[in-house]
Amino acid sequence: MSVAAVCPGSFDPITFGHLDIIERVAACFPRVVVAVLDNPRKQALFSVEERLELIAAETAAFGNVEVDRFQGLLVDYCRAQGIGVVCKGLRAVSDFEYELQMAQMNQRIAGVQTMFLSTSPEHSYLSSSLVKEVARYGGPVTGTVPPRVEAALHAKLAVGTDRSAPGGG
Ligand code: PNS
Repeated sequence: MSVAAVCPGSFDPITFGHLDIIERVAACFPRVVVAVLDNPRKQALFSVEERLELIAAETAAFGNVEVDRFQGLLVDYCRAQGIGVVCKGLRAVSDFEYELQMAQMNQRIAGVQTMFLSTSPEHSYLSSSLVKEVARYGGPVTGTVPPRVEAALHAKLAVGTDRSAPGGG
């Protein structure tokens, strides 16, 4: 029986939607690892180190949540860490098809289980991509990301180091 779960993702940057899922997963498993995909082929706004730092700060209060990075297949990371369960949030039907494909593939190739949590309704429209787009054009993102992340977003966009691919994250 697996006593650890992983919440994988890009987290570019972490939103209140992610945090809601992480907090609820942390209430179900004694050990939770938030694993940031380090994908050199995908342009991100925040470096992996910056993302890890923001997630660590925002999840510190949970007590049983660790933060880590991984490259390659998620199931290989799970095997190396002794993690048997992947936890994901489902926002809408549009998420379901791809998430189901990944869950079935991860079950097939490594016997890793995926558990889906329904996103809280107040977060169901939220994505890192949308938050970045709104922030990039000077729109308000208060309430979609924690204040520390909002400050990081403004700082990042103000210095003009936006390396994010359109629609990415
Ligand atoms: O936040 P995202 O970008 O939607 O997260 C997607 C993520 C990182 C969970 C997914 O792309 C993933 O698990 N990537 C690792 C590579 C992998 O295992 N691919 C095969 C999936 S069946």
